[in-house]
Amino acid sequence: MSSSSSARAHVQWDEERSEPYMIIPAVPSIRFTPLRSTDGQNFVDLYNDPEGGQYAFRRPYPYDLECSQWFMDNFHADLDMICASLKSHLEHGTRPPATTFPLAMMRYVPTCSSVNGSTATDSSYSKLDRPDVDQAVEDRLSEMNLSPDTFLGSFTSFPNTNDIANSIGETSKSASRTHMVAYDLMPFMRGKGVGTRALDAVLEGWNDWVGVEETIAHIQESNVASRTMIRRCGFDEVDSEIWQWPLEKGGGERRVFKYVRGRPKDVK
Ligand SMILES: CC(C)(COP(=O)(O)OP(=O)(O)OC[C@H]1O[C@@H](n2cnc3c(N)ncnc32)[C@H](O)[C@@H]1OP(=O)(O)O)[C@@H](O)C(=O)NCCC(=O)NCCS
Repeated sequence: MSSSSSARAHVQWDEERSEPYMIIPAVPSIRFTPLRSTDGQNFVDLYNDPEGGQYAFRRPYPYDLECSQWFMDNFHADLDMICASLKSHLEHGTRPPATTFPLAMMRYVPTCSSVNGSTATDSSYSKLDRPDVDQAVEDRLSEMNLSPDTFLGSFTSFPNTNDIANSIGETSKSASRTHMVAYDLMPFMRGKGVGTRALDAVLEGWNDWVGVEETIAHIQESNVASRTMIRRCGFDEVDSEIWQWPLEKGGGERRVFKYVRGRPKDVK
């Protein structure tokens, strides 16, 4: 798709919460935020889902609180420092290094979303002239009666290393021009058009901004939703390999497709 929206996603600073965030321009009631200390159970709910669990090659499955604690300790140990540095970059109009996307947690925030630089409340949404918004997706969300701050899923982009599992703490700090993406929506959020808009936002609002030249995804053949979404987001299918799948996720040999997206030429 590479964004149906003309408004580009961009990282902003929320003074009230004292944290960086990024709204999805096409679905402004959803924002990306940093991990919070209360997110342990959210990871368990997300990654213990059998459908998502079977597609993740490296992540443990079943996934329990101990797994999420390990992840939070290793991956987000430096998050405060990373967010403070991001704030400084935003203030100075400079570009942060091409490290891991630090706003991986998607939440429903309908009451105070910044749209094209202005602030809208729930009731004023429909009154704003917002050609970039996908109203059908917004309406689907609104019909779900979600509570504000409901956790919706996790999307991230991180430096490409050969062994992410052993070096994930390092990848959060080291910059790289080649990234990989990983994403999961909560089961109740899938198939509503959110994934495509969310990945577009991460690619534009982080990868293109920080100067990632190439983004890679590996997707199992049977994961039709993910393969369709990644193509909509401007990736090309370049290769496929047979991987021996972990036993706890069904085992056997699986065909895995490699997808690549280059940095758009019009991005400065
Ligand atoms: C993969 C995932 C993030 C996609 O997000 P999503 O919001 O469900 O996808 P969208 O609604 O934006 O749909 C994207 C495309 O896939 C299609 N699609 C969605 N769900 C589908 C399904 N179950 N089967 C077939 N096609 C599907 C949609 O029709 C759409 O195609 P279109 O643009 O031609 O209409 C989400 O489904 C998910 O979290 N799945 C489980 C975890 C997972 O697989 N992670 C990725 C591992 S590689």
